[in-house]
Amino acid sequence: MALTNDPNYKKLEQWYRDNAGSLNMRDMFESDKDRFSKFSTTLQTDDGEILLDFSKNLINQEVLSMLLAMAKSMGVEEAREKMFSGEKINFTEGRAVLHVALRNRSNEPITVDGQDVMPEVNRVLDKMKAFCQRVRSGQWKGFSGKSITDVVNIGIGGSDLGPLMVTEALKPYSSGGPNVWFVSNIDGTHMAKTLAQLNAETTLFIIASKTFTTQETITNAESAREWFLKTANDVKVKDFGIDTANMFEFWDWVGGRYSLWSAIGLSIALHVGFENFEQLLSGAHWMDNHFRSAPLQQNVPVLLALLGVWYINFFQAETHAMLPYDQYMHRFAAYFQQGDMESNGKYITKDGSRVNYHTGPIVWGEPGTNGQHAFYQLIHQGTRMIPADFLIPAQSQHPIRNNLHHKILVANFLAQTEALMKGKTSDEARRELEAGGLKGDALEKLLPHKVFEGNKPSNSIVFKKLSPFMLGALVAMYEHKIFVQGVMWNINSYDQWGVELGKQLAKQIEPELKDDSEVTSHDSSTNGLINFLKKNFA
Ligand code: F6P
Repeated sequence: MALTNDPNYKKLEQWYRDNAGSLNMRDMFESDKDRFSKFSTTLQTDDGEILLDFSKNLINQEVLSMLLAMAKSMGVEEAREKMFSGEKINFTEGRAVLHVALRNRSNEPITVDGQDVMPEVNRVLDKMKAFCQRVRSGQWKGFSGKSITDVVNIGIGGSDLGPLMVTEALKPYSSGGPNVWFVSNIDGTHMAKTLAQLNAETTLFIIASKTFTTQETITNAESAREWFLKTANDVKVKDFGIDTANMFEFWDWVGGRYSLWSAIGLSIALHVGFENFEQLLSGAHWMDNHFRSAPLQQNVPVLLALLGVWYINFFQAETHAMLPYDQYMHRFAAYFQQGDMESNGKYITKDGSRVNYHTGPIVWGEPGTNGQHAFYQLIHQGTRMIPADFLIPAQSQHPIRNNLHHKILVANFLAQTEALMKGKTSDEARRELEAGGLKGDALEKLLPHKVFEGNKPSNSIVFKKLSPFMLGALVAMYEHKIFVQGVMWNINSYDQWGVELGKQLAKQIEPELKDDSEVTSHDSSTNGLINFLKKNFA
């Protein structure tokens, strides 16, 4: 059913029309001293707590109840069960959606087409484990008999962003592992700059691809091979290829952007060790269990999803900012740009009709405090509503100078959501200016620029420490949030047909770039661009 036909949606819409203008967070905090405890929830994971504080949102109990009712009537609980039980919910590709099976540490059977997938999942995990041990112990040798010091992951999209994000986030856990590099872009610069820093004798390449047909990945793999053959110049390497013994399978029920838990995560396991990789899986599994069993009103992915729907479909918010206050999470937002936008960037519903409401938001973000000195101006005083998730670990991996840096980081994290919520009234701004000695015309002129409207929504997500387990839990939390939103919008979050047209057209254009003859087969803009480029190729 289309979201806008849902009776609970209609109720909320009416409520929004009549009352939304009066939702003022300052007032709501003033009038209800328990607001924090009413609109926050703490998860006790096996590796420390996660606190979701969603009290700084434009909601009250009535709105939350209506949002939860809407989740029920849109069938979130039934859809969740369908996913976990291996139904082919990715119906445009005829596939189950079972990244949860990859991290199903309980080993409870999960069946697809009547077959339990767990033995296969465990077989590949065992194979990854053995491989990791050989590489990390130095037993695995390069062609000249030296141990591996560097691993290059060649992949793109889901076969790159996940491992890249995770290996960056878990750097403190990488001691004893090889360095990892990521080459994704077809731009030769990416490969050339990476290879320039590597020694072929001690470098291992992972070709990470679900389909093994992705143009960028195959071309980059061929280039790596060429470099190898040139550098190695050894008879043994002449038959360079991929021994099937070194192939790590995964299955069509794993979507690319949900694949870091599979063999696509091999670079993660090599970098941080297999035990830490298992911890990552365990954290995700913990969140899977929470998502599957917690009642909707305490279910963190569900709450995050509903708040998103509230802003996107009622307040017409266009974007969602992810702002981790942790330098190690500097690729987190980039990772979820694919996770979210490739999943929910769709306008066709499951029934094949066009939506008459907005779906997935534009996801973006940078780590704090860098973002504060770049784009926060617009969040505070711009004309758009930018719902934002602020994330921070309570414990720093580097408590340098007696934790001084971390305390400053935390203070900024707290200050930002407080500032967004409270703003600064004209009276407050006036008093400040007067205290600074300003008066008369000069004061009046400056005053409007110093006012912050406030009432800007944010979630705060505080977790104990960025351990492998915790990272797994956080990633799974957002995966499930995306799932819930997809259900609410009645779209298939698991295909990605929207990436195909560009690929098709690039295939047609590529041969046209081979010689310098004039191209006339496209619209005048595309022709003009092609011909300009050709003129300048030499
Ligand atoms: O073009 C998009 C996409 O299909 C993503 O969904 C996927 O993560 C990426 O390309 C890479 O695909 P593959 O792993 O098959 O090389």
